[in-house]
Amino acid sequence: MQVELKDITKRFGPVVANKGVNLTIRPGEVLGLLGENGAGKSTLMNVLCGLYSPTEGQIEIDGAAVRFDGPGDAIRAGIGMVHQHFMLVPVFSVAENVVLGVEPVGRLDRLDLASARAEVRRLGETYGLAVDPDAIIETLPVGVQQRVEIIKVLFRAADLLILDEPTAVLTPQEVDEFFQIVRSLSEAGKAIVFITHKLNEILEVSDRISVIRRGEIVGGGDPKQLTRPELAEMMVGHPVDFDVARGTFAPGEAILDVSDLTVLRDDGAVAVDHISLQVRSGEVVGIAGVQGNGQSALIEALAGLRRPAAGRVAFDGTDITFASARARHRMGIGHIPEDRQHAGLIGNFTVAENMVLDTYYDARFSKGASIDWDRVTADATKVTQAYDVRTPSVRSTASHLSGGNQQKLVVARELSRDTRFIIAGQPTRGLDVGSIAYIHARLMAARDEGDGLLIVSSELDEILAVSDRILVMFKGRIVAEYHPHEAHVDKAAVGLAMAGAAS
Ligand SMILES: Nc1ncnc2c1ncn2[C@@H]1O[C@H](COP(=O)(O)OP(=O)(O)OP(=O)(O)O)[C@@H](O)[C@H]1O
Ligand SMILES: [Mg+2]
Repeated sequence: MQVELKDITKRFGPVVANKGVNLTIRPGEVLGLLGENGAGKSTLMNVLCGLYSPTEGQIEIDGAAVRFDGPGDAIRAGIGMVHQHFMLVPVFSVAENVVLGVEPVGRLDRLDLASARAEVRRLGETYGLAVDPDAIIETLPVGVQQRVEIIKVLFRAADLLILDEPTAVLTPQEVDEFFQIVRSLSEAGKAIVFITHKLNEILEVSDRISVIRRGEIVGGGDPKQLTRPELAEMMVGHPVDFDVARGTFAPGEAILDVSDLTVLRDDGAVAVDHISLQVRSGEVVGIAGVQGNGQSALIEALAGLRRPAAGRVAFDGTDITFASARARHRMGIGHIPEDRQHAGLIGNFTVAENMVLDTYYDARFSKGASIDWDRVTADATKVTQAYDVRTPSVRSTASHLSGGNQQKLVVARELSRDTRFIIAGQPTRGLDVGSIAYIHARLMAARDEGDGLLIVSSELDEILAVSDRILVMFKGRIVAEYHPHEAHVDKAAVGLAMAGAAS
């Protein structure tokens, strides 16, 4: 099945998200789709999977024009999409999720489930997508949940699979397994569209690359003949400097002092197991680790969002172990939460409202007893421009921003405040290479001005690029420590420590 997008334009009011896009997707081919945040990748794929109808242009399958009035039409034509945010029912089993919505009435009977189970097994064997059909979704790791999303699309007999940033949430090992699945799908003749911001991934797994900038296809080609710098320049329109520049390392006194901290998960299991660490002002401490080793609970405890079970946290000599999030905020502790969809933004508030979520009560935004919205708007406009948050205006609804731009909004809000300390969880997840370079530069500027920074990232390259000191977290403990200013840090050694080799 060959699918062609012909002269597709998609507008949202005054916003032109896609402009005259022509794209051919061939069977057995992995098409890598690359573009900066807000370039129009998700919108284009939402048009292709029937979620949006194009303002202009048409879709052709094997030369015949088709019209989709919803995702149901697209899936009947053989086109399925795995969205960036999974849409599974957490308390249902794998097989139940797979059949859900296939029956027009949406009711499950024994027969459906039995055949779904068998089909889940068969698809698993055919494409290397091993999943237990009876497992309950919420008990499965993210990588396996993603396989269920893929099985769901295959169960509906899709010949074209669209995968929107599938690797953003995966561990390095899950990424390798995912690539094998993609290869076996394409060997079986499926067409795949793969969206990612990671240039090495797109070079590794694609057969062909298309680059989209400000809604238009601006280039692409054969991955064998393209390099990372060339792709980066095509995406953003100018060369991107991948090196992180910073001033000399001259740390001050310890500003954050964590001693013997223990933090439990919601289910009572130990997430952070007697951790002690210090961060000095003017120092970036990077916490490396495979996701799920207690980093999230550590960040939540330090930000005042989760009550520690034992131990002590001091900030600048003051005990803040049980201080509220707002109290910490007022002391100059900035927090970039790792789960922006839930903790960072209020989707149906405007960009400007989101920009002052924690500061609207500041004197600078008050006019008597009420909020000075002119000041808020002016300030938000300045910050969104500085951080290149792409939005038609600060009065736009935050949920209408592209995924990466929502993230930039949260990072911009925290980094544009007067801070003394910054806690950052996955600060550049889902961002394009240009935005990553900019955010890294802002983080380094905060450090050079004397802030202490604690950065948690599952991207080892990011940790190596920004940290003055590296701690590796494994099963709730710090299992290794590295000092890049004293000795060269061997990436492979850190990787081994992350896998638990040093403990
Ligand atoms: N429902 C909507 N209403 C208004 N504008 C929208 C809507 N959806 C997308 N847009 C706008 O369309 C443009 C393209 O957004 P899109 O989500 O396609 O970008 P993207 O390339 O997927 O970016 P990212 O890498 O950040 O996910 C953006 O300017 C965005 O604000
Ligand atoms: Mg997107």
